[in-house]
This record gives sequence, C-alpha cells and structure tokens, in this order.
Amino acid sequence: VGTGSGFLAFEMEKRGAQVIAFDFDGGNVNHQHDLIPYFDFEQRSGGSYESYFKQLLTNLDKMKNSFWLTHSLLKSNIKVFYGNVYDCEVDFGHIDYVFFGNILLHLMNPIQAINTFAPYASSKIIITEAAFHQPFNYESDEAVCFLMPNIDVKDNFMHWWQLTPGFLKRYLNIHGFTNFDLSFHEVLALFEKPQKKHRHFTLVASR
Ligand SMILES: C[S@@+](CC[C@H](N)C(=O)[O-])C[C@H]1O[C@@H](n2cnc3c(N)ncnc32)[C@H](O)[C@@H]1O
Repeated sequence: VGTGSGFLAFEMEKRGAQVIAFDFDGGNVNHQHDLIPYFDFEQRSGGSYESYFKQLLTNLDKMKNSFWLTHSLLKSNIKVFYGNVYDCEVDFGHIDYVFFGNILLHLMNPIQAINTFAPYASSKIIITEAAFHQPFNYESDEAVCFLMPNIDVKDNFMHWWQLTPGFLKRYLNIHGFTNFDLSFHEVLALFEKPQKKHRHFTLVASR
C-alpha cells in the first residue's frame, strides 16, 4: 500500500511473493495527498497551494513512470490498483499480507488507512515507519502518535505523524492482530544532501 517506485514490491516478487500494488490515483486530486494546511501556505512554499499540488502530482507521476519502466524491464507480474487509501473497496481476492511502507506518516488519518486495509490481511500486516524522533521509546509499548507539523518548521508540508510501534500494536489488536515482531534498520535517504541515514522500525503483526 503506497507502492511508490515499487522498489520494495519488485524485491518481494523476486523473493517469491505474488504482489498487488496499490497507490494513489494522481488524476483524482481531491481528498488525496494530505498536505498540511498552513494558514500561510503560499508564503512558506513560495507559490500557490495549487502550484505546489501540481508539482507534487508531477513528481508522483514520475514515480509511477519509474514503476512501469521497472515493471516492463523485469517482465513483472505485479498487478496494480490506483485509488485512495481511505476508501478502497476493491475485491482483490485472497490476501495473506498487507504491507505499509513509509506511508502512514504522510496521511492525515493513518487510522482510517489501517481500517481500510486491515480487513484484507488474512494473516499479517507489516508496517515500516521512521523511528527518528528521540523522546519516544520505540522498543517499549509506549503508544504515541505525535503531531509533527510545527509552525516553526518551514518546509514540512507532508509529514503528519511520528507513530510508535506501541501505538500500532494497540490499534492492530483491535483488528485482531495479537502477535508482534519488531525490528529496526537504517535507511539511507539518497535524495538528501548531505545523504543521511534514518532509523526505521518494521512491525510484523500476525493474527
Ligand atoms: C514515501 S512513499 C513510500 C513508497 C514505498 N512504499 C517505499 O517505502 O519506498 C509514500 C507513498 O504513499 C502514496 N500515498 C500517499 N497518500 C496516499 C493516498 N491518500 N492514497 C494512496 N496512496 C497514497 C504515495 O503516492 C507514495 O507512493
């Protein structure tokens, strides 16, 4: 869910999974990609809200193009659905695992995204998110959903939440997931200059 360039989806397929990719339908802009609605958005972004949105959609389209290029070069069998993470009603057939990779922090309503996709997962939900906010103990069951936008941080337009594994466990319990396996790794952000490593966690939740 939130496949992006498909880097992870193609790796999953390489390792033997039958993959269905779900991402955002850029053509239908309303109620998608939750930008943070600063009162002074235009001043901050140096342009209008519309132009920011248009640039974002262009970038997302480029990401989709890279997905389709890779799909064709690898002769991939990944099936693709485009829609909105908040109200998907597609009949995908039997699904074992649902994977969310670095998408929940971008959503105004991560709970609704989990509500939409948790029922599809007959066996496991796997969630990878950044774990770089120091005050929280990501190894404990501390259940935190911390609001990231801050009027003093000028360039955060798309990062809504820092979620702890404890928060996700607590909510995934409600959807019937009872066993959890938590691990940590570093992700190198190639687009940052200088390049930085960011700590991430992966929570594997099983029914
Ligand atoms: C940071 S990228 C993560 C890409 C990939 N999962 C990875 O970990 O490399 C976030 C993805 O979530 C998708 N996304 C964001 N909001 C969405 C929404 N409301 N509905 C569907 N997809 C959405 C974006 O299009 C983008 O592909």
